[in-house]
Amino acid sequence: HKKIVIPSLSFFQDELKGEGVVKSRRTLGELAGIFENQDAYSQLPLDQLAYEVYSYLPEREGTPGGLYFGITQLYPGKVGDEYFMTKGHFHQQEDRSEYYWGLEGEGMLILMDRERNTWAERMMPGSLHYIPGGVAHRVANTGNSVLSFAACWPSDAGHNYEEIANKGFSARLVEVDGTPKLR
Ligand code: F6R
Ligand code: ZN
Repeated sequence: HKKIVIPSLSFFQDELKGEGVVKSRRTLGELAGIFENQDAYSQLPLDQLAYEVYSYLPEREGTPGGLYFGITQLYPGKVGDEYFMTKGHFHQQEDRSEYYWGLEGEGMLILMDRERNTWAERMMPGSLHYIPGGVAHRVANTGNSVLSFAACWPSDAGHNYEEIANKGFSARLVEVDGTPKLR
């Protein structure tokens, strides 16, 4: 295992590229169906980058007791009055929790419990967010610059994207008179 110093995006980009850090990316095309305004969505190029995730996965997926680390860079933009956002998911192992914390830019963490109650927390550099087990999570970039946040989650959490892809969250974060509101 590599020695991890205080994680920062530059650390991930410069020091660990090709050395155990997995980089994944999502284009707008891969976010089909998550935005409400289909007309606005169809005007945007499918190959436009929405976000990138740098993940450090020191244990094999499914290992109990291990932890994963990741940094997400979510680009600014809107589809109609909705902000660019991550796909969002529950964890496959329902009780697995996670920390998110803000590094750069402005955003909102959208959370939904098993009873489909949805709420949101403001993300900014230094903000810390505890996501309990059984709570779906998604991040929206509400600013004009890249939103960067870090995450730490158990290596046996797994991801359940299907439920959010099928049913979404019970509220949408939209811009109303220049400010983000849950609707
Ligand atoms: C891991 C986690 C984050 C997200 C990342 C991208 O459990 O929550 O690392 O995976 O922010 O979002 P999704 O996975 O929803 O596309
Ligand atoms: Zn997660």
